[in-house]
Amino acid sequence: MHFRVVSSLEGEHLDALIVPVFKEGDAASNTPADLRGTAVWVAKEHGDTKLFAPITHLQSNGDGSTRLIVVNAGKRAEMDVARAWQFASAGVRELWQSTAARIAIVLESNAIDPQEAMQSAVEGVIYAMWRPESHRTDEKDRRLPPLDEVLLVSAGDASDFDAAINRGTIVGEAVNWARGISNEPANLMTPTHMAMATREMASTTNLKVEVLGEEEARALGMGSFLSVARGSDEQAQVVVLRHQGRAGDGYDIAFVGKGITFDSGGISIKPAEDMHMMKYDMSGAASVLAAASVVSRMNLALNVIAVAMCTENLPGGHATKPGDVVTSMSGKTVEVTNTDAEGRLVLIDGITYAQREGAKRVVDVATLTGAVRIALGRLYTGVLGRPQSFIDEVLGAAERSGERMWQLPLADEHREEMKSEVADLRNSSGSRLGGTILGAAFIDAAVEPETQWAHLDIASTAWYEEDRPFSPKGPQGAAVRTMVELAQTLAKGN
Ligand code: BES
Ligand code: MG
Ligand code: ZN
Repeated sequence: MHFRVVSSLEGEHLDALIVPVFKEGDAASNTPADLRGTAVWVAKEHGDTKLFAPITHLQSNGDGSTRLIVVNAGKRAEMDVARAWQFASAGVRELWQSTAARIAIVLESNAIDPQEAMQSAVEGVIYAMWRPESHRTDEKDRRLPPLDEVLLVSAGDASDFDAAINRGTIVGEAVNWARGISNEPANLMTPTHMAMATREMASTTNLKVEVLGEEEARALGMGSFLSVARGSDEQAQVVVLRHQGRAGDGYDIAFVGKGITFDSGGISIKPAEDMHMMKYDMSGAASVLAAASVVSRMNLALNVIAVAMCTENLPGGHATKPGDVVTSMSGKTVEVTNTDAEGRLVLIDGITYAQREGAKRVVDVATLTGAVRIALGRLYTGVLGRPQSFIDEVLGAAERSGERMWQLPLADEHREEMKSEVADLRNSSGSRLGGTILGAAFIDAAVEPETQWAHLDIASTAWYEEDRPFSPKGPQGAAVRTMVELAQTLAKGN
């Protein structure tokens, strides 16, 4: 697939042309004049006002026909980075299993910055190319639209957009990589497979890869992490990626991901219904590794460490039992009151490791609590941490990158609630109230006073249970864009 920027479609042979139309009754700013009227008319006649609903209008011209795909892009005034990639993805998805190979996408570059519009459109096209049916044996069930060339219609000098296309490609491919890893079933994506897939991905970057097995984790004192691995015969793995983008040691930021390749709940076993979904409980790990790949490919001027804490959570004969007490890498002791609250157990050791490696800031990403879905629904990632100035930076990065995130409060009383009668901490309070906050309150105990820390609970956003116009149901690569934007912002300050 090749991207090419054009300012006019004259003389171009196209199988399909994707045009966003706004609620105000106007098409995108770069729509060729001869098409504007038709696009607006198609949208109006069809009358479907659902956001991103694509409408195919077959147009015959002298030497064949072109699909005109009109995408309802909402109000022009509300156009932003997220809508820009989502309309492009929705338009390309309309070509699913078609024979279209040469297409064009018209960009809106008045309502948003032309460079951002370009990067977003590229991200959207790449996003649309990924499908979850990786294990269907019938090839046509998993066939992607075999696009040869994608023309991007925008005003200005085509060469000005090379960097934006490059960024969009890197981010889009990283997001799809994370989706692919999350989508794999737990028998084919064990901790060892995650380490192998990461090595392969990193082999085309300048990232340093290090994989710690259980012996090494034990030597480091990661008793909290290893307590989760006890019930499984699969070797637990800590997958570490390092990016050196500036001189000097230490890390400007660490991304720490929850990599539970299957969460049965352990001895505090989950109900059978929907348990199969717990193959995606490693989505935080997939996202932090993907974000590191982008940081490396973009060669950002900062030092980044990504730490993926990978293990299964199973109820085997050696499994940790409710009431067991374990010692974390920080030295703090934890009473494991609920073995299904395992995400926080693996994260605290990952965070301690990152801090010992010299990380000043930590963002942890995890499908941590069912409660975040109750609190925020399906659209928003929950954000907690300290200090507030850092949370504001993370929320700003989310906003600019087009991911929806929402802060939840974290108070000393919440921290109190995670204290155990027999140990320093307990991993569950037993109450269902404020579950997302209590998860963060537990993790907080591993964060040094001088570390800036944000916890992203993506249990709400990592996986769509329904198709959306711009995405099939399934894994989303949640938080990759936000981490990338944050790293870009920090790099500018170096
Ligand atoms: N992996 C789950 C959280 C989850 C639930 C992710 C649904 C995605 C969809 C996590 O390990 C878990 O089981 N959390 C418990 C915590 C509780 C025992 C304190 C939960 O949310 O019930
Ligand atoms: Mg084991
Ligand atoms: Zn769990």
